[in-house]
Amino acid sequence: MAILVTGGAGFIGSHTVVELLNAGHEVVVLDNLCNSNPKSLERVKEITGKEVKFYEGDILDRDILQKIFRENDIESTIHFAGLKAVGESVHKPIEYYENNIAGTVTLVDEMRKAGIKNIIFSSSATVYGDPAEIPITENCPKGVCTNPYGWTKWMIEQILTDLQKADPEWNVVLLRYFNPIGAHPTGKMGENPNGIPNNLMPYITQVAIGKLEKLSIFGNDYDTPDGTCVRDYIHVMDLASGHVAALKKLAPGSGLSIYNLGTGIGYSVLDIVHNFEKANDMKLNYVMAPRRAGDVPQCYSDASKAERELGWKAKYGIFEMCRDSWNWQKSNPNGYED
Ligand code: NAD
Ligand code: WQD
Repeated sequence: MAILVTGGAGFIGSHTVVELLNAGHEVVVLDNLCNSNPKSLERVKEITGKEVKFYEGDILDRDILQKIFRENDIESTIHFAGLKAVGESVHKPIEYYENNIAGTVTLVDEMRKAGIKNIIFSSSATVYGDPAEIPITENCPKGVCTNPYGWTKWMIEQILTDLQKADPEWNVVLLRYFNPIGAHPTGKMGENPNGIPNNLMPYITQVAIGKLEKLSIFGNDYDTPDGTCVRDYIHVMDLASGHVAALKKLAPGSGLSIYNLGTGIGYSVLDIVHNFEKANDMKLNYVMAPRRAGDVPQCYSDASKAERELGWKAKYGIFEMCRDSWNWQKSNPNGYED
C-alpha cells in the first residue's frame, strides 16, 4: 500500500516525503513542477537512500490520476499541491480558484472512483482570518480571509467537510499550518522561492547571503509587545512529522478531524531577526517600514489538540529554525539550481 503525495516536490511536501519514507511508508509523488524542482526528490533519495515513484503531471488531469490509481495500490492521499502566493492570488483569482479548488475537486472525484477515501489536506491558519481568540484553538470560528488564496483554503475545507458528511466512508484530516520555516538539518533540502520572496524567513536568508540589500519590517506600531507582528513559526521537519502522525486519523471510521500544526509560541518579527542573528552569529540589515496590507497583529496556535490526539508535538525551537534556514541557504545559494 502506498501514499500519494500531491505537490511532493515542493517545500513542505518534499520534507514530508522524507519523514514518510523514514517511517517505512511507500510513497508516490504527483507534481506538475510549477513551483518546484525535481532535484528536491533526488535529495530525498540521497537523504533516505530510498526511491520515490514520481509522476510529473497536474491534479486537474483526470488521465494521470487514473493512471496513478491503476498502477499503484494507493491507500491515502496527502494533498499539498496548490498555488500559495498571497499577493499573486489577488491579481490572479481565477487561476487560484481553478488550480486549488477545481484541482482538489478533480482529485477527490478520481479518488472516490478508485475507491480511495482517505485524505489529509494542507490547510492554513489563514482560514481563521483576524482570529477571534489567541492562542487559536481548532474551535475558533473560521474568519474572513483577506485574499483569494486564503479563500481557496477556506472553501476546500468546506468542500471536504461536506464530502465526508455525505459519505461517512471518507476519512478527512484538515491540517492548519501556522508559519513553516527551517529546512532539512543536512542542508540538502529547503524552501526554494521563485523571484523575490514574500515570506519573512526566505527574505531574511537572502539578505544574509547578500542577494537582497535589507529587510523591511512591515509595521512597528501594532498592539504587540514590541510593536511588530507576532506569528507561530514551525520547523518544516516538525510539520513533516505531523503528517506522519496524522495518518492514524485515516483509520476506518475516523471521519473528519481538524488540527492546528504550530508550536503554540508566538514570536515577533524582531524576535525572529534577533534569533537569526544570534543563531548564525551575524548582523542583519533591516529598516522599519509601513504596515503590509492584510497582516493581522497576532496569530499563534493552541497546539494541544494535536498532542492529545495524535501524540505529536513540535520538537524544534526557534534556534534550530534559524540555523537550518541559513544552513540551507548558504549551502545552496541558488536553491536547487546549482
Ligand atoms: P510549494 O509551492 O513549495 O509546493 C506546492 C507544490 O505543488 C509545488 O511543488 C507545485 O509545483 C505543486 N503544484 C501546484 N499546483 C499543482 C497542480 N495543479 N498539480 C500538481 N502539482 C501542483 O508550497 P509549500 O510551501 O510546500 O506548500 C504546500 C501546501 O501547504 C500548499 O497547499 C500550501 O498552500 C500549504 N500551506 C503552505 C504554507 C506555507 O507557508 N508554506 C502555510 C500553510 C499552508
Ligand atoms: C510573517 C511576518 C509580515 C516579510 C503567510 C500567509 C499565510 C501562510 C503563511 C500559506 C508578518 C512580516 C514579512 C518581510 C516583514 N501561508 N514580514 N517583512 O503573512 O504570517 O503568513 O505565510 O498558507 O497564509 O499569509 O507570513 O512570512 O509573509 O510574514 O516584516 O519582508 O513577517 O508583515 O508580520 P504571514 P510572512
